[in-house]
Amino acid sequence: MLPAHFQRLAVREDSAVLAECSRLVRDVTGWRSLYLWGANGVGKSCAAAVIYCRWSLGRAIFRTANELFSDAMTLEREKEITRYIGGVACEITHSSFWRSIEECGLLVLDEIAQGDPHEWRSEMFWRVLEARKRKPLIMTGNVSPDVLVQAYDQRIASRIQEGSFLKIVGSDGRKAGLTQRFSIVQRTV
Ligand SMILES: Nc1ncnc2c1ncn2[C@@H]1O[C@H](COP(=O)(O)OP(=O)(O)O)[C@@H](O)[C@H]1O
Ligand SMILES: [Mg+2]
Repeated sequence: MLPAHFQRLAVREDSAVLAECSRLVRDVTGWRSLYLWGANGVGKSCAAAVIYCRWSLGRAIFRTANELFSDAMTLEREKEITRYIGGVACEITHSSFWRSIEECGLLVLDEIAQGDPHEWRSEMFWRVLEARKRKPLIMTGNVSPDVLVQAYDQRIASRIQEGSFLKIVGSDGRKAGLTQRFSIVQRTV
């Protein structure tokens, strides 16, 4: 479910953030995750939302991380939950939830590492990371990959650091050049 404000947004195609993210997504072979990070408002979620909207290789899912982990947690206790998608009620069960996480073409987890750390949150995140191993997964967040260990735990931080990460800097990137706006660190372990 894409946040409503992105549905109405007239996307600026000259966005350097968008261009670089699209390039990275195209280049990623043998998928590991892609983590877009930087300060508020620099265009991380927007870039992820555009990639989500244009994704054509199977179903794409866009959720904020905490919402998704909270649904996963609820489904540990309850048989099913109801979500309204396009005004239509959808019953989600534990198995249909995890099947869609595993089988979707692309999963976007927006705003990871927000809020207080909880053991259950780390546990759900780990399960999601395991389910998306070598499958398209894009995350956005405000914290540097080094600090993820404080928000979650060592295994999660190290799994994310195994993937690609893109630091987005600057508040008005559309006027600045690529080199001023990005530093890209890619690991190919
Ligand atoms: N490619 C783009 N085209 C149009 N507007 C954009 C674009 N990128 C960012 N914006 C604008 O900047 C705002 C902040 O972007 P957002 O992606 O939400 O930032 P972040 O997730 O980094 O906090 C968006 O709501 C949108 O108005
Ligand atoms: Mg955002």
